[in-house]
Amino acid sequence: MRLVKKAAAIAVASMMVMSMAGCGSKPAETTAAATEAATEAASEAATEAAEAAASEVAAVSGATVDVSDKKVGISIYKFDDNFMTLYRTELERYLTEELGFKKENVVIQDGKGDQAEQTNQIQNFITQKYDVLILNLVQASSAPEITDMCKEAGIPVVYINREPDVAEEERWASEKIQATYVGCDARQSGTYQGEEILETSNKGDINGDGKVSYIMIQGDPENVDAQYRTEFSVKALTDAGVEVEELLKQRGDWDQAKAQQIAQDALNQYGDKIEVIFCNNDAMALGALQAIEAAGRKVNEDVYLVGVDALTEAVQNVLDGKQTGTVFNDHFTQAKMAADLAVKYLSGEAVEPVNMVDYIKVTKDNAQQILDQLK
Ligand code: BGC
Repeated sequence: MRLVKKAAAIAVASMMVMSMAGCGSKPAETTAAATEAATEAASEAATEAAEAAASEVAAVSGATVDVSDKKVGISIYKFDDNFMTLYRTELERYLTEELGFKKENVVIQDGKGDQAEQTNQIQNFITQKYDVLILNLVQASSAPEITDMCKEAGIPVVYINREPDVAEEERWASEKIQATYVGCDARQSGTYQGEEILETSNKGDINGDGKVSYIMIQGDPENVDAQYRTEFSVKALTDAGVEVEELLKQRGDWDQAKAQQIAQDALNQYGDKIEVIFCNNDAMALGALQAIEAAGRKVNEDVYLVGVDALTEAVQNVLDGKQTGTVFNDHFTQAKMAADLAVKYLSGEAVEPVNMVDYIKVTKDNAQQILDQLK
């Protein structure tokens, strides 16, 4: 291990200094020169050791652990997801570049949207004795089974993005299982979406008939993110005393192409009755925008459109008036938190079962600022 080697180098160098200084038969200059050379070698070795320590020993809020030989197994529900691609890129960067894990020790698998396949991958991580797992489950409802597999093997798990249910999270605490969740409270993002509609000049009632008529394009309804965003976006309107009419609610599975088709069909069927298109994420808002433009309609003039995530393209659309608003789903902070908690487990520290990161509302007012942050 590198760290041990460096420490040995320092020891050898200082032994050289000591033995040379103690050698009385040598002329004084030679001894001084040798001492200087040895001191230089020692200080070089010390600097290198300090650098190695900085890159290989991850220090997270007081916890210090040598991660140079630690293996992290990561499984993403599917690689073909815009938001999770940003998330996994940041996760890998942070683990290797900032925490000092070796690139070859951070292995990321594609769950391909198939729970059976993903469970197999996790089983392989376990057989290969990975030290910690970071998992974005295909189905959050598989958490109890997966948690038990990891518990048996003594491997801690950090779940991300798809939240297991409360009963499961409570079990981790009560049975002292090394499992935790990092995510965002999707009620907050839903509420922000509703507020963005309330903040428009006509509070979403474009045709002035006294009610807001909307369509809802949902993510995968198995995900609590999709359930909460759907519920709380509309709740923000009704809580503010605004009457609403749901024309359509359909699952688009977080997918741009599916959302484009749904929006296209809805625009054909309901025409200018549609005043708001709520999308549970930005990928689907991008799809809806394609359909809106193809139907010759204009966002913010004859229809409002909101999403969640703050994908660069969507934030640019907010700036350009082609999307009413979005909500920043902060993958930077979530990735950092997930990796830091993995390190805490490795250093034997206790970890809270649920760890939430705040969403940030994005409208024309702060879109440029968010865009700068995303770069
Ligand atoms: C994001 C979606 C993403 C989903 C994956 C959500 O939090 O907003 O864009 O597709 O997570 O589980």
